[in-house]
This record gives sequence, C-alpha cells and structure tokens, in this order.
Amino acid sequence: MSKETFYITTPIYYPSGNLHIGHTYTTVAADTITRFKKLKGYDTYFLTGTDEHGQKIEKIAAEAGVAPQDYVDGIVTGIKNLWDTMNINYDQFIRTTDPEHEKTIQRIFKKLYDQGDIYKSNYEGWYCTPCESFWTESQLVDGNCPDCGRPVEKASEEAYFFKMSKYADDLLKHIEANPDFIQPESRKNEMINNFIKPGLQDLCVSRTSFTWGVPVDFDPGHVVYVWIDALPNYVSALGYLNDKPNLMDRYWPADVHLVGKDIIRFHTIYWPIILMALELPLPKQVYGHGWILLKGGKMSKSVGNVVDPVVLVDKYGVDALRYHVLREMSYGSDGVYNEDLLVSHINSDLANDLGNLLSRTLAMTEKYFGGIIPKEREKEAIDDEIIELAEKTPGIVSDYMDKLDFSRALEEIWKLVSRSNKYIDETQPWVLGKTPEKQARLAQVMYNLTECLRIVTVLFSAAMPETARKIGEQLKCPEACLTWDSIQQFGGYPEGIKIERCDALFPRIELEKKEEKPVKEAKTKDKKEAKANSESQEELPEGLITIDDFAKVQLRVAEVVACEPHPDADRLLVLQLMVGQEKRQVVSGIAKYYAPADLIGKTVILVANLKPVNLRGLESNGMILAATKGKKLSLVTVDGIPSGGKVS
Ligand code: MSP
Repeated sequence: MSKETFYITTPIYYPSGNLHIGHTYTTVAADTITRFKKLKGYDTYFLTGTDEHGQKIEKIAAEAGVAPQDYVDGIVTGIKNLWDTMNINYDQFIRTTDPEHEKTIQRIFKKLYDQGDIYKSNYEGWYCTPCESFWTESQLVDGNCPDCGRPVEKASEEAYFFKMSKYADDLLKHIEANPDFIQPESRKNEMINNFIKPGLQDLCVSRTSFTWGVPVDFDPGHVVYVWIDALPNYVSALGYLNDKPNLMDRYWPADVHLVGKDIIRFHTIYWPIILMALELPLPKQVYGHGWILLKGGKMSKSVGNVVDPVVLVDKYGVDALRYHVLREMSYGSDGVYNEDLLVSHINSDLANDLGNLLSRTLAMTEKYFGGIIPKEREKEAIDDEIIELAEKTPGIVSDYMDKLDFSRALEEIWKLVSRSNKYIDETQPWVLGKTPEKQARLAQVMYNLTECLRIVTVLFSAAMPETARKIGEQLKCPEACLTWDSIQQFGGYPEGIKIERCDALFPRIELEKKEEKPVKEAKTKDKKEAKANSESQEELPEGLITIDDFAKVQLRVAEVVACEPHPDADRLLVLQLMVGQEKRQVVSGIAKYYAPADLIGKTVILVANLKPVNLRGLESNGMILAATKGKKLSLVTVDGIPSGGKVS
C-alpha cells in the first residue's frame, strides 16, 4: 500500500537582503511539521525557495553595480546557509530564476492568454522618474516616492491583466464548502468580507518598465509580473508544464501552504483562481500565521532593528532558537520577540526541566546500577498516573501538530517532562538507593523515568532534532525505539542497555554573572556550585526550592503610568506600566483596595517573565506583587530605584 503523502510549502522569500527571525519562524515551523509527519510514516515533501525577479531586485543590483543574477546568487547562498544552520531539511529549494520554473511560467501565461483569461490593457500608476519606478497609490509615502522621497507623477504603461472576477463565485463556493481551506478561521472572514464580496479587481500580470523578469515570449518587452511568476512555484517545483521529474501526481494538491498574514490574500484569492483557470485542484489548506514583532512594532531594515537568527544560534544554539520560536508564537497570532524570553525558555524549559530530568535520570542509573537498569523490577500504584500520561501524550501532541499549533504541542510534551520530574520527587530514588531490599523498586522507578525520557524525546524530535539525537545517543536507544509506533505503549525501552552520560545539553545562561566576574574564576566557582547543587537537589525536602528555582522569577521595578477600571469586571484594574523603556499592560484584582488615580506614579514590583494571560478579554502581561493579610492588601512599592531596576 502506498503511503499517505504530505506536501508543504513556505513562501518563496525575496532575496533583497538577509532573512530575519520572522522568516526563520515560518521555515522552522514547516520543517517541524514535515519531520513530525515523516515520523508518523507519511511520504513528505517540503518546498522552500526564493522569489527573485522584479523591479526592486533589479534596482538593488544596479546600485551594487552587479548583474541581477549575480546579486541574487550571492544572497541565495546566504539563505541556503541559514537553512543549513537552522537544520532545515527541505526536499527542494526552488528559485524563480530556474530555467524550468521560467518555462512553466511562460506556458501558463500563454495558456491563460489563449483561453481568454488574460487580456492586454494599460497599467495606471505613479511614476518616479529618477528611480524609474512605478508605485501604487498605497505604496506612496506622503504622496511621494517611498524610495527617494521625491515627487511622483501619474503615468501609464501597456500591461496584461488577469480577469479575476470571472472566478469569484466559484472561489466563494469553494471557501464556504471547505472550512479548512483558509486557517485560522478569522482570516477566512477577512478574505470573504474585505476582498471577495466587495468585488475582485483584475490583476496586473505583466510590465514593460523593467526587464528583470520572465519574458512574455509572444510579446517582447513584457515581463511576467510578481504573483503570476511567484505563486506557480508550488507546481513548477513538481514538474508542472516543464521537464523536471513529474511529482504532480504524487504530491499535488498541497496539504498546506504556510504563509504570513500579509500574503494570505494572494494565496487564498489569486492562487486558487489561477489554479481554477488551469483546471488544477486547489491546495487543501492555506495557513496564515501572525508576525514576530519587536516591542516597538515591526522589524525593519531601514530602522536597523532586524533580529538576526545566525547571531542567536551562535549565542544560544540552534535547538534553543527552534524551541523558542515554536513555543512562543501561538499560531495565527502575532508574537513579540524578546531575548529575555528566549533566555528564560532556555533556563527554565530546557536547562531546568528537560536538562534536569535527563541528568538526574542518567546520573542515578549510573550511580545505582552502573548504567544498566536491572530486569527485576517492582511496580507500585503510584506509577499508574505517569504511565497513563505517557501513553496518552503522543495522541494529544499529534492532534495539536495537525492543527499546526506547535506551542500547545510542546506544552503537552513539557507536561510529561514536569510530571517526570515530580515523579522523582515523589519516589525519592536516593532514599530507595540506601535500602538494599528496595533495589527492584528503584529499578522500576529508573525504568519509568528513562521510558518517559524516551517518549518525550521522540515527541520533540521534530522540533529539536539535534537534541533528540543527542539524548537518543545517551539513552543508547536503537532506531526501532525512536519510532512513532514504539511510543504508543509504555515499556518500549529495551532491556540490558547501558546508558552513556554526556555533558549538559543546555547549560544555564547566566547573563549577569558573566558580566560581573572574570570568566575563569566564575567557571571554577560555578562548577563547584553546580556540584554542590546537584548533590543537594536529590535530597531537597518538600516545599523548599533551590536558588536556581528562585532565579527563574524575574522581578522588575515598574512605574504605573496609567490605570483604569476593567470595562467588564468590577474586581479588576487595568494598569499601564513602564519597565525601563518597555511598556506593559497588567490586569490586577485590586479594584477593591485602590482607586485608579491613586496608583499613578507608584513604583511597584512586577513579575516580568510570567506567560501573558487573557483576563476578561484583556491581555495581562505580568503580575504586580502585593502583601495581604485578612481583608487588607497593600502593593509592594519601592523608593529611589527607577523603573526597569532588578529585584533580587
Ligand atoms: N516573495 C513573497 C512571497 C511569495 S510566495 C509565492 C514574499 N516574500 S517576503 O520575503 O517578503 O516574505 C516572506 C514571508 O515572510 C511572508 O510569509 C511574510 O509574512 C513573512 N514574514 C516577514 N516578516 C515577518 C515577521 N516579522 N514575522 C513572521 N513572518 C514574517 O512576501
């Protein structure tokens, strides 16, 4: 029986400069779902690439004094290196300058022209003579050229247009009959109400004012314009109307086109209409994700605030960055990039939760059993809950992955990680280790922990392939124990294996410490401390936390700059805080104790790294500290330390 297929694409990126963390997010997401589907036995195909034509590239290359092809070749090498760095396992990297792609575009253009879907007319726009560029009304900045700021004038040029309106009714029917076609749901309503229902404009598909594009072979002087060159990459890559190997029968229609919210319109209106005109089936789903923003708004090259993924990988490692973007961005919504959050993910989820589970499990297996868990084992009722969780987690994770909700999928995996750490505290292997007659029980505890580690490792292997490989090596898991089938039932970790412990996978990031102390001294001291900590950790009495646990909480001084009652909840106040330069909104249940005006100007203490929550429709980004006794409540305030200050 042939395998079920899964074909996924990212947008093809403009090679107009280096790619940033926003592009990385889409590509890591596509790579992760592809690896996950592969793990589940699908025949997968993952396409990414570059969208290389157009006036903008022609101009940048001219300014750099090189031919457009040489210019894009250089950038594309950089993009491919970035994907190698990010451990992206694509099946094909398509370039719109590939001769086979160009062949497809010319053939599509001719076919649509011959069947009357494309016609010749005039393109009206705003022309900047010094820049030799056409702009649309909406691209102008204060009525002037967005590039040089000089005045523009109305001009027109001969161009071909695609009759979009002809297919509008069929498209609407398709969208309504296929609820999964546009996801998330909110994007679907936006497309229908804002674009399709008001009536579709015909689309300009050729230009004569620049030459860097696929020539219209039956009308010299025209080059194919933007979307009709770019969108068909998804089928030209599969050999549609060209001489590449034919993969259309195997993979088309695509399962998912993963795109950012700014280009969802082109993928859910223009692209399906082009496909309808070509009598090809439509993709099963177009998924429009949100954007990664910075505190001040969008990343922009001109502002110089783009976040370079290569720098972050150098600093923190590839899997830490992959984990962070997948965990932080809840799919469909925008997310804010913040390096502190990345560090907190590394320290708390990776170093602390996962790292501790791994090192404690392996260290104790080595210490008590020389690295091999004995076969004589003794179960207890307390094991049932963790076994049940371990057996149901793969199904839950798989459901979230199918919805492309990576954040929730990882959250579910980490529930099992946390449960396993709690199981160590509950079963206290170090106490069992002191009692010779409890050896079989100890063996069972260590087996359960190792098995949970194996299961979580297989589950996150799509998101963090390198980490999964390293843990697999330490557990000495044979291939057969790293498959999807092998984690459907608890107990797949083989007998008689000798584990092999290595260094910590995710060392804690101690930013402040590094700055304060000479590196050498800090290292020796850290090592001693780490040893002392790891020894004491096993015997920590219930209710106590370590200094590391406390260090996870980031406390900051914050100034209340505005405060209002919550519109929908009498109990709540909505506070606007400044934490240094950063603005935060916090919703707090203190309306009974303070009038909004009394709070303005107070310097309070904010728990700054709490996961944001939604309280009666308003986002609360942190928590402010208060002291309470009986019916009394007083906010904790500080004097003389400006907002942004740290509390430790
Ligand atoms: N070339 C077109 C796509 C053609 S697809 C047939 C294009 N290229 S782009 O390089 O400008 O953008 C590519 C993708 O990156 C888009 O999906 C866009 O939404 C995404 N992102 C750009 N900035 C982003 C963030 N800050 N965050 C997340 N994604 C972002 O559009």
